Amino acid sequence: MSEKMWSGRFTLPTDKFVEEFNASIHFDKRFYKYDIKGSIAHAQMLGKQGIISSQDVQDIERGLAQVLEEIESGKFEFLTQDEDIHMAVEKRLTQLIGDAGKRLHTGRSRNDQVAVDFRMYLKAEIQEVLALINNLLGTIINKAEKNIDVYMPGFTHLQTAQPILFAQYIMAYFQMLKRDYGRFADCLERMDYSPLGSGALAGTTFPIDRHFTAEKLGFKAPTENTLDSVSDRDFAIEFLSACSICQMHLSRFSEELIIYSTSEFAFIELSDDFCTGSSIMPQKKNPDMPELIRGKTGRVYGSLISMLTTMKGLPLAYNKDMQEDKEPVFDAVDTIKASLKIFAPMVEKMTLLTPKMVKAATAGYSTATDYADYLVRKGVPFRESHHIVGSTVAYAIQKGVDISELTLDEFKRFSNVIESDIYGSITLEASVNARKAYGGTARSAVETQIKNGRNFLDEI
Ligand code: ARG
Repeated sequence: MSEKMWSGRFTLPTDKFVEEFNASIHFDKRFYKYDIKGSIAHAQMLGKQGIISSQDVQDIERGLAQVLEEIESGKFEFLTQDEDIHMAVEKRLTQLIGDAGKRLHTGRSRNDQVAVDFRMYLKAEIQEVLALINNLLGTIINKAEKNIDVYMPGFTHLQTAQPILFAQYIMAYFQMLKRDYGRFADCLERMDYSPLGSGALAGTTFPIDRHFTAEKLGFKAPTENTLDSVSDRDFAIEFLSACSICQMHLSRFSEELIIYSTSEFAFIELSDDFCTGSSIMPQKKNPDMPELIRGKTGRVYGSLISMLTTMKGLPLAYNKDMQEDKEPVFDAVDTIKASLKIFAPMVEKMTLLTPKMVKAATAGYSTATDYADYLVRKGVPFRESHHIVGSTVAYAIQKGVDISELTLDEFKRFSNVIESDIYGSITLEASVNARKAYGGTARSAVETQIKNGRNFLDEI
């Protein structure tokens, strides 16, 4: 006869391979701390409500403290036959304290137990993700501030578009990550309700106090509907969505660091301790870290899609399919944390190859829009000025020079409103500093972004 906790109605022991296929203990052991914490709160509540004796509560607390100690010191045996962390902990507790251990599961099911463990686990992980984003935001803002004088080309279609400040460039990532921070914080808010006490699906016949356990476990309140509580995995899906968007931002940033560190661009150099070499080509220094972060983005999206797909056809309430909810989340947690952790020092330690950036910022007729705006200020309608500038650029390309190298006479062939003040209007500095409107690349506008960014970091 099998020794399973639920074996009462069975006549055959579980098939060995079924046992392995069914078990989640080898991955849900990550929940051990929360499972024990949840059980302590549940036992205290049962005691307070007079459902079990205070002696039982004391024994359970003592026993669970020992289980915790055994797990943390590596003495605990995680056995496939115990199926999952919930039953493994309860079994060991009962071995240690006897009958009181068997009373712990009164008024509770593994369905609400796994839901509460999962939420506690994710709440703690999100706090860590938020701290890592906060740190990266700080690094970005410092990098912007330190390099406030550096110009670079801005691109659209990866073709030179208009010159910008490097600080404007990197502060764009500040904005993306600030929104990511908000998404993780929102998702934390929404998952901050305790499903414990929902039982299998319908609640329980015992006079439990769900507000008590919710408060003990650090939740804002208990969830409102027991059926929803055990069926819901929105909190994990929302977390994976936030991870996917954040990882997408890191991937775009990585892509640029990879391109900008090529010898063709040579805008930046990554620090040696964040790169690797080639086994055959001695000259190589490869940007493996941003490449890996870009590469790992696929697996984070995969986790989101896997979870959405698992949930899409499930009837309420718990179905065993839902055991598939943990591994994608664990993988995404590990990936996003590692990526954020590497990103901050990688950005901090990278060197800007300023002369090359500035040179590229002036090349490619990057101030052509400023030339067009100059004509508009002299009374030429914009569509017409666009055409004049286009013709001038074509002429300069043919001659193999930059627009600023044309003589005033040559300029006048395209429009007679052009005077010698054209030269001052199409420099790098003039182009950048003319874009003073809120959010623009002018130094004053970027300094405002930095100031607002610092205020944001001070407030969170
Ligand atoms: N190991 C299970 C899981 O991770 C725990 C919940 C089991 N509930 C059940 N009714 N079989 O989903």
